[in-house]
Amino acid sequence: MKRVLDMRIREIEINDYDEMYRLWTRIPGIGLSSADSRSNIQKFLLRNKGLSFLCLEGEKLIGTVLCGHDGRRGYIYHVAVDEDYRGKGIGRALVEKSLNQLKTEGINKCHLFVLVDNSIGNSFWTSLGWTKREDIFVYSKANLINKLQY
Ligand SMILES: CC(C)(COP(=O)(O)OP(=O)(O)OC[C@H]1O[C@@H](n2cnc3c(N)ncnc32)[C@H](O)[C@@H]1OP(=O)(O)O)[C@@H](O)C(=O)NCCC(=O)NCCS
Repeated sequence: MKRVLDMRIREIEINDYDEMYRLWTRIPGIGLSSADSRSNIQKFLLRNKGLSFLCLEGEKLIGTVLCGHDGRRGYIYHVAVDEDYRGKGIGRALVEKSLNQLKTEGINKCHLFVLVDNSIGNSFWTSLGWTKREDIFVYSKANLINKLQY
């Protein structure tokens, strides 16, 4: 018999961190770093209230989207859906929630980063109508915080 899913989407709270982090660590394609510590995610959620969402089946966390903006452009991170629940429109629904919230805050454009070899991720964003930029390189600078404080 086909199982009926009891799914709902709600805003992410910092209390969801442990379960979210567990989901992210078991999903290839989600690049994690020190930027994803509990305190950094807490700062991110505080600075970007109402923009990041998760999907639950019952009490089980099965999907996430982190979204923020800097006043000019929106940014999306960590769109992840538990492998057992893929292909049911959950990823699309999470992204739509965040984009609708960006719209209400007057943000007209959103960017995201996908690893070049993440074929599932790249197909997903293409299916959702996002444009892959061929005209931009991403430049990064690390170690801005000098660990030796005098
Ligand atoms: C990418 C991911 C979030 C998709 O979640 P999902 O809930 O299965 O996606 P949806 O069911 O909402 O699919 C939306 C669209 O993407 C396309 N898509 C999803 N997975 C796909 C795949 N494996 N291959 C090709 N297209 C795919 C679907 O065709 C669908 O288009 P349609 O609605 O026109 O049929 C999920 O596979 C995942 O967590 N992947 C690992 C993490 C990752 O790569 N995240 C994105 C990079 S930041």
